[in-house]
Amino acid sequence: MSEPVNNGRDSFSSRFAVIAAVAGSAIGLGNIWRFPYLTGENGGAAFLIVYLIIVISIGIPVMISEFIIGRAGQKNPYGSFKALAPGKPWYVIGLMGVVAAFMILAFYTTVSGWTLEYFYQGLTGNLSGKTDAELTVMFDVFLKSSFRPILWFIIFMGFTALIILSGVKEGIERYTKFLMPMLFIILIALCIRSLTLKGAGEGLRFLFYPDFSKITSKVVLEALGQAFFSLSIGMGTLITYGSYINKRENLGISALLVCLADTSVAVLAGIAIFPAVFALGGSPASGTGLVFIVLPGIFQKMPLGGFFQLIFFILLAVAALTSTISVLEVIVAYLAEELKMTRRKATIAATLMVSVLGIITVLSLGSLGNFKIFEKNIFGILEYLTSNIMLPVGGLFIVLFIGWSFSPQRTKSELTNEGKVKAGYLPVFMFIVKFVAPVAIALVFLYSLGII
Ligand code: TRP
Repeated sequence: MSEPVNNGRDSFSSRFAVIAAVAGSAIGLGNIWRFPYLTGENGGAAFLIVYLIIVISIGIPVMISEFIIGRAGQKNPYGSFKALAPGKPWYVIGLMGVVAAFMILAFYTTVSGWTLEYFYQGLTGNLSGKTDAELTVMFDVFLKSSFRPILWFIIFMGFTALIILSGVKEGIERYTKFLMPMLFIILIALCIRSLTLKGAGEGLRFLFYPDFSKITSKVVLEALGQAFFSLSIGMGTLITYGSYINKRENLGISALLVCLADTSVAVLAGIAIFPAVFALGGSPASGTGLVFIVLPGIFQKMPLGGFFQLIFFILLAVAALTSTISVLEVIVAYLAEELKMTRRKATIAATLMVSVLGIITVLSLGSLGNFKIFEKNIFGILEYLTSNIMLPVGGLFIVLFIGWSFSPQRTKSELTNEGKVKAGYLPVFMFIVKFVAPVAIALVFLYSLGII
């Protein structure tokens, strides 16, 4: 039986389904590929602490704000802002979100493709017996080979489109509901394996024992960008998902649980990776290759390594898939609702457009590698612009909207489900979205521009 939902709009069927879908979006390569590599490059525990402070003081309030806008607006990000603030320019944030969705999908699906390649290489036994140097060469040769990375990109994009084609309830919900818990369990198994390696303590020390002198403006900006990226906030993904949350769900609790789950997975990924890196003599600052170069080397040196390796890369692919669908859904919802396309046409159009940008992105790591702006190739530019700039700017305006433009009565009514549930945190929330979060985001920007 379907429930009485949002004006007949498709919606998630239960609290668990909401959490699973939103956590599915949040938990992905951001936690397992990007968080460890940034932590490794930015000083370990010092980065983790800045990251945690940002998640609590900025991340959770932005997430709640996106839910409010989506559930009250009942549309894609652009349409929701138009509905809630007619005649005002807030919808520009929604548009920026749609643009960011293209950019994120282009590089994100590229890395998702790598997970398939490494699964395949693991399956055919090509990773075993390789030295660390050989694995580095292998990663490099693969990236530059163009054909295979493009093939995996297209396959991954195809999976994403297929799930989106089956719609919110049938598609997103059905897959995330059982895939997310599975992921959690496999990750814990990996942690246990890593922690029982000899010499694992050094990795734990790196991850949890902070050296505060490592905190620089770069570290703070990277942590801010990573918090937005990992929580899927700042571009309207969660406005879109918020519009599918039915009127009886508790938005504050949902946001809190998702942030907790997302942060736990990032920390678990750290616990799975760093002890192993140190125990087996890798380098934590191996950059984007950390997972793809260091881990296969580590897997080889452990009992049942080949098996763990397959599980790991499947886990990574699955986590990535539940994230790519949430990004593609933003574009599809926009095209379907604003340009009145059918969902089918919208999905096909969005997939084709993303694929063009995506293939250029894949090539930027190979034959187009000489094209650089500010020392970064296209892949690097997309990653930097979206995480460190577009998402935080989007988040800044999202909290400003809830803090200063949207009616406080309506915020209250969304957070209390029209008085049916308690939201004792409301005054604190309002204070944060009005002052704390906007000032904090602005300060990070000014700090990293060297202005303060
Ligand atoms: N949060 C996902 C991850 O950590 C990626 C992602 C999904 C995302 N939707 C997003 C990032 C929206 C930014 C904005 O892998």
